[in-house]
Amino acid sequence: MQVFKEITPLQEYLDIQVREGRTIGFVPTMGALHDGHLSLIAFSVADNDLTVASIFVNPKQFNNPDDLKKYPRTLDRDLKELETSGCDIVFFPSGKEMYPEEVHIVYDFGNLDMVMEGKHRPGHFNGVAIVVERLFKITKPDKAYFGQKDFQQLAIIKALVEIQKIPVDIIPCPIVREADGLAMSSRNIRLTVAQRKSAPGIYRALQGAKSKFNQTSIKEIKDWVDRQIRNIPEMELEYFEIVDQKSLTPVLTRRQGQTCIACIAVYLGEVRLIDNMFLN
Ligand code: PAF
Repeated sequence: MQVFKEITPLQEYLDIQVREGRTIGFVPTMGALHDGHLSLIAFSVADNDLTVASIFVNPKQFNNPDDLKKYPRTLDRDLKELETSGCDIVFFPSGKEMYPEEVHIVYDFGNLDMVMEGKHRPGHFNGVAIVVERLFKITKPDKAYFGQKDFQQLAIIKALVEIQKIPVDIIPCPIVREADGLAMSSRNIRLTVAQRKSAPGIYRALQGAKSKFNQTSIKEIKDWVDRQIRNIPEMELEYFEIVDQKSLTPVLTRRQGQTCIACIAVYLGEVRLIDNMFLN
């Protein structure tokens, strides 16, 4: 596995590979890797001749400076795991390398970034789009792999490549869960033992919402989830929404043929966790 910290040598290396006819799969990450990330690497390794992963904790997508400071950084372990998973190339740039000068792009994603994460983390998706567009321009992948745990992010990235006409296939990959249902996240390692024990309550709330979806009103489901989360010690509900999977607009009453997804964000102590589940 090759590790590049600078853009120019990485691009020179990748240009040679492309000229020799190899396809490139790309997995962008912020490090602190877990099995969810490694499943993205596995999908890419299966689909492409070469897999590139990036590790960059992107300051532009953190609206909360404390969250950025506390974001776990586990580089040595990440590199070992990437190597074992068959990743070929790691791009690990500094902040200066990624942003040699100030970037002032403002994207228009319409409704997609006005709800849920977009509403509660102003500027977050603009920051994600800035870094992902830059990473796509640097690595020029044929395919790029994103986890469905960040469902709204996935919708933003699909919109980004359409708006900016970036020739890359976006491949959504299923959520990877712990045995007790907790969605894997780099933030899980910040949970205390007691918080980790109660964290699967998020998954149970989503499962409950799914089982109620055909039986009761959206309002009743939302009230029920609210009560479930309230009963979990240290857990606070930031939002629970049932939205149309394409437009991400909140669903008030079910429509025939519409696919709905339940999305949730909670604070467990100081740790913010998100999850989602298709309801039909
Ligand atoms: O999902 C993430 O880890 C990040 O948002 C991403 C896509 C690597 C951009 O920094």
